[in-house]
Amino acid sequence: MSAVVAASPALQAALADTAREIDARFDVLLSVPDDARANLYRAMRHAAIDGGKRLRPLLVFATAKLFGCDYDCAGRVAMALEAIHVYSLIHDDLPAMDDDDLRHGRPTLHKAFDEATAILAGDCLHALAFEILADPATHGDPFVRAELILDLARATGPTGMAGGQMMDLEAETRTFDLATVTRLQAMKTGALIAAAVEAGAILGKVPPEGRTGLRGYARDLGLAFQIVDDLLDVEGDEALAGKKLRKDGEAGKETFVSLLGVEPARQRCRMLVDQAIEHLRHYGPEADLLRDIARFVLTRDH
Ligand code: IPE
Ligand code: IPE
Ligand code: MG
Ligand code: MG
Ligand code: MG
Repeated sequence: MSAVVAASPALQAALADTAREIDARFDVLLSVPDDARANLYRAMRHAAIDGGKRLRPLLVFATAKLFGCDYDCAGRVAMALEAIHVYSLIHDDLPAMDDDDLRHGRPTLHKAFDEATAILAGDCLHALAFEILADPATHGDPFVRAELILDLARATGPTGMAGGQMMDLEAETRTFDLATVTRLQAMKTGALIAAAVEAGAILGKVPPEGRTGLRGYARDLGLAFQIVDDLLDVEGDEALAGKKLRKDGEAGKETFVSLLGVEPARQRCRMLVDQAIEHLRHYGPEADLLRDIARFVLTRDH
């Protein structure tokens, strides 16, 4: 059983480096033009800069490093993954979806600007992610770029995040069994986390048969991550989370926690984290950062 530990010094440093790197990249990408689109760019900056934990970019960096990939290439891919994540949160917070006022301790985008600007800022970040991946600066090999694009598109659309978000909305009014909630969460949250890990393997030109362990790791990590999000919704601290909590219960939403109860959900989460780490057994100390990330998922408070 994993010990409950705070983020290791190596992980703390990696999280801080990743946050700095992603902020710097968004700062350049989203420089505000001197024309009628200025508010659109300001809105994207509000959502993307000084954002969340940057877990998905960190997973790209950690996996890419396993295979000795170029740091700048990994940085571009990490930014693309985070652009999708930020877009998904902007839309998730909209009145038509979760109707939230607070994100990262700041007003949500439609509150700070307006709904139309928030929708368009999300649209733009979605498009920018694929533009970044398609750009030859991301990787010299067009097959690598095409694979990155294909994998991220699948993780984002109806078979991934957006499909999972639809099921998540349905979960407010329908009763789902554990298998269906597992599928919902694997799509809504797991798919993008899996795409972040896969992106590192794609950049490293690892053949599909060499990715089995990483895929198992990512699948279990993604599920554990969403169970913790659901647990934090029930028992987390709003000031630390920087977002409104107790929303799932109020909405009558079926989650792992509503189906299993708090303690069994936490147990399942510990089991998934142990399993995720076990999937990395063929790697040596070079995968320690990925192991630390898995342990951090259990103990995070935001
Ligand atoms: C929150 O994701 C939404 C889910 C997919 C559970 P994160 O907890 O990774 O969000 P930030 O970016 O760190 O705030
Ligand atoms: C959002 O899930 C998942 C996305 C795909 C954006 P939640 O609705 O549970 O995320 P929070 O709790 O608002 O961060
Ligand atoms: Mg939601
Ligand atoms: Mg939400
Ligand atoms: Mg949540």
